[in-house]
Parts: sequence; C-alpha cells; structure tokens
Amino acid sequence: MTIHEAMQAVENVMLKVINSDVKTLRDASHHILEAGGKRVRPRLLMLGYEALGGTDIESAAPVAAAVELVHTASVVHDDINDHGVVRRGRPSVNSIWGRTFALLTGDFLFTKVYELMGPYKDLNIVLAEATVALVEGETLQASAVKENNFTRQVYYEIIARKTAALFRAAGVLGARLAGADEKAVEALGQYGYNVGLAFQIVDDILDLTADTSQLGKTSGIDLAQGRGYAAAYAGNGQSSNGVAVADVVEADDGDPMKTIKKKLLKGDAVAEGQAQAQQLAHMAVASLDVLPASNAKQELIDLAWMVVNRDH
Ligand code: IPE
Ligand code: IPE
Ligand code: MG
Repeated sequence: MTIHEAMQAVENVMLKVINSDVKTLRDASHHILEAGGKRVRPRLLMLGYEALGGTDIESAAPVAAAVELVHTASVVHDDINDHGVVRRGRPSVNSIWGRTFALLTGDFLFTKVYELMGPYKDLNIVLAEATVALVEGETLQASAVKENNFTRQVYYEIIARKTAALFRAAGVLGARLAGADEKAVEALGQYGYNVGLAFQIVDDILDLTADTSQLGKTSGIDLAQGRGYAAAYAGNGQSSNGVAVADVVEADDGDPMKTIKKKLLKGDAVAEGQAQAQQLAHMAVASLDVLPASNAKQELIDLAWMVVNRDH
C-alpha cells in the first residue's frame, strides 16, 4: 500500500459518513472537509499502521477517518469560541452559517465518530480518552485566560491535552490496528505525543509570525484571545499576554495588540519555542528506533521534521 492510497481511502470514508438528508449539516460538513487541511493525524495513524506491518487499508481507514473527524469537529467548535472567520483557506463554518449551525455541525461530526468506531471495540476507549483530553485542554485554556494564569507550566498542561493527546492516540491506534506488541504501541504513542506538542508550539508561533493568507486561518487570533504564544514563554504570569499591563497602556501607536506582538517578537520566546519544538522532534524520532526500517518509518521521521519546519 502507498500512503497516497491509504489517505485516499480515509477521504472516501469521511465523505461517505458525513452524508445527511439535512442539507445544512451536509453542506457545512462538505465545506469544512473538502477545504482539505493537512490531514496530519490520519497520516500519522496510517503510516504507523504500515510501519508496524499493517496491510489492510480498508480495516484501518475508518479509524483514521474517525481521528480526523474528531479534529475537524474541534476546529469547527474552536472557531466559534475564538471568533475565527477563516479556516482551511475558506470562510469558517460559523462565518457562513452562524454560531448555531456551526455548533450543530461540530456535534454532527463528533457523533459520526461513534458510527465509525462502532466495530472497533476497545479502540473506542483510546479515542474517547483523547477526545476527553482535548475538551479538557480547551477548557483549561479558557480558564487560564480568564484567570490570567498563563504560566509555562499551565501552557504545557493545556497543549498536552488539547493537541498532543489526539496525536498520541493516532500513534497508538495505528500500532494497535497493526497488532503490534506493547513496546511498539508505546513507542508510536510517545512519538505521536511529542510530535503533537511540537505541532502546537509551532502553531502558536505561526499565529504571531505568519499572516492569514499563509496560514489559511485567521492569524493573530490567539493573541487577540489573550493567549499569545509567548504568554507562556515570556510571561511568567505577568499578564495574559506575557507583557506587563503597564507597558500596554503606555503604547504609543494606539494599537495594544500590535504593541504586545512587537514585544513578543523582540523577546526570546519565539527562539526558545522553536528550539523546544526541535528537541521534541528529536525525541519523537528517537522513539521510532525500536521499529524495523521501512519506507513508512522514514515517512514518520519526515513527518516529525515537517511539523517543526512548516511555515503554514
Ligand atoms: C489546527 O490543526 C488546530 C491545532 C491543533 C493547532 P491543523 O493545523 O492540523 O489543522 P488542519 O486540519 O490542517 O486545518
Ligand atoms: C485548536 O486550537 C483546537 C484544538 C487544538 C482542540 P487553537 O485555537 O490553538 O488552534 P487554531 O490556531 O485555531 O487552529
Ligand atoms: Mg483557534
């Protein structure tokens, strides 16, 4: 099997399962799924499956599709919370259909995961735990912003749950589907976890350094939501944006967001985060040492580096 064929199978499963005779759900789901996206989580799952000897695309694809639907549902809901108006290079679901239908579209995608995972017995628990962690992470994040408590430790707690848990699950699920032993399951889980942490750190840096057209989603939004990436790195709890409130008040160009952004970019936070992401990628790749050599293993190594070196 090639990874291209595997990913095509995943697309087919997703497109089939999102059919509904309710037009709004059907249209909004097609809108967000057909916009593409990097598909990094299902790719990780299918590569892990292949690297551990799995060959039956049709049996693994529904689980990879379920992982991608959890992620897609989460970004549809996330754009409601974050007021995101661009997602995957298109207007977000909430900006076209409004908050109510975006909420329901996310619910629809989340519940389609039950349907896909029905036949997979205890693998359901792996995905359910990761989905719970994702919701907990988003909740901890909203609380940290509200309570102005965005320390580095809190930041890691948040990204571990909201992002790394699902990446970890993708690794574990790929390995389990291939019938791998516990050591290999743990290795791919650890790989996924570290790639997930690196992915979110880089994502948060890009929110500051890249623009909306480059990202295909609204840039600067984390900052506007009071959780500019470097809040965690430079912040030490001074303010929700890691910059002393007094400095913002003293801003001379009249745009507090621009002032905070300038300060964050001037400090060490971005360089520190990039170094941390590189280190996490090294650790992820090292976890793969226990896997036999294969094309799929090499593609997993490349994926880890793609995640930290990406510019969108
Ligand atoms: C966006 O994830 C949400 C984060 C965890 C940062 P992706 O960057 O994987 O989103 P798509 O699927 O490619 O749009
Ligand atoms: C996205 O989080 C949603 C989850 C990871 C659950 P972010 O708010 O950090 O991601 P973007 O920047 O909107 O994609
Ligand atoms: Mg967001």
